[in-house]
Amino acid sequence: MIPTVEWKDGVVRLLDQSQLPGRVEILDCRDYQAVANAIRELRVRGAPAIGVTAAMGIALGANAVQSTDRQEFVTAIGKIGDHLASTRPTAVNLFWAINRMKQVIELQPNLSIVELKACLVHEAEAICQEDIEMCRTMGRYGAELIQHGQTILTHCNAGALATAGYGTALGVIRAAWESGKNIEVFADETRPVLQGARLTAWELMQDGIPVTLITDNMAGTMMRQGKIHVCVVGADRIAANGDVANKIGTYSVAVLAKAHGIPFYVAAPSSTIDMDTPNGDAIPIEERSREEVLSVHGSPRIAPEDVKIVNPAFDVTPAEYVAGIITERGVFSPDDIAREFSSGR
Ligand code: MRU
Repeated sequence: MIPTVEWKDGVVRLLDQSQLPGRVEILDCRDYQAVANAIRELRVRGAPAIGVTAAMGIALGANAVQSTDRQEFVTAIGKIGDHLASTRPTAVNLFWAINRMKQVIELQPNLSIVELKACLVHEAEAICQEDIEMCRTMGRYGAELIQHGQTILTHCNAGALATAGYGTALGVIRAAWESGKNIEVFADETRPVLQGARLTAWELMQDGIPVTLITDNMAGTMMRQGKIHVCVVGADRIAANGDVANKIGTYSVAVLAKAHGIPFYVAAPSSTIDMDTPNGDAIPIEERSREEVLSVHGSPRIAPEDVKIVNPAFDVTPAEYVAGIITERGVFSPDDIAREFSSGR
């Protein structure tokens, strides 16, 4: 599969997800502003992928800094970091990755600017590689929760496209499939931006994993008919109390799952766990443009032009609905997240 994001010959190369599945286009970002625009416009999206891309954006911006004065360099990186951090507020991986990049400079006071620039590229590539490894490990833990013959419902896209590779929720599904389990997936289309229809359906079909696409309002009836055995979704931020922010509509899936006695799992790397956010109410929820609701992926307008619209991009699923959080360290009850992850990531 084409990498979601990579550092290639001094540019940040992205698979432009806004064009999928119709066109497979590569976007080369040559400055950090282009990286920030790509994140804002959902050309690259998904919490882990946003973090990796922002790290590469910092490396890119650092390479363009002319000054050889350390203080001026630090100030410039601060400005680049702030610009990238302003793109999307909910996915904590973005802020985690930016902080990790800044620490490279803080922890190495004796390096020259040339050496620091090389270290920043190295760190961004390490974050990228670690993300793939975390997804694979998480996939192995999560696959143990999936039984042969089961059908899994997922929401949005938490796949290879949403990470540096392999995926979180889809990593679990992929690992179960690779271990020989005969499973099927139901993918919610995920209005308004259709990550399920455009990306999850495409990604699973590329791998030959059986997938059935449903509109978001069909999930309840599929559960009632006994067609769904387990739900697995990703996360944009997990608060210290185990509350989970993920794509809008996730909460509805979790409530429906509980009503039907279906286990609802969240798969996310430790970079998505935010011990500084005590609970879901403290998670900032991104509000996106009215145009996303007013039409369907560039279609003609489907509602009166002046209709009042709200467009929260994420919702919060309270911890009580979550059967388990699948991480690269194992599967935890939401109640155990604080204890397990309080000692840092
Ligand atoms: O708006 P998006 O497409 O960035 O939202 C993505 C999601 O909500 C994913 O489920 C989440 O980031 C987890 S991705 C492994």
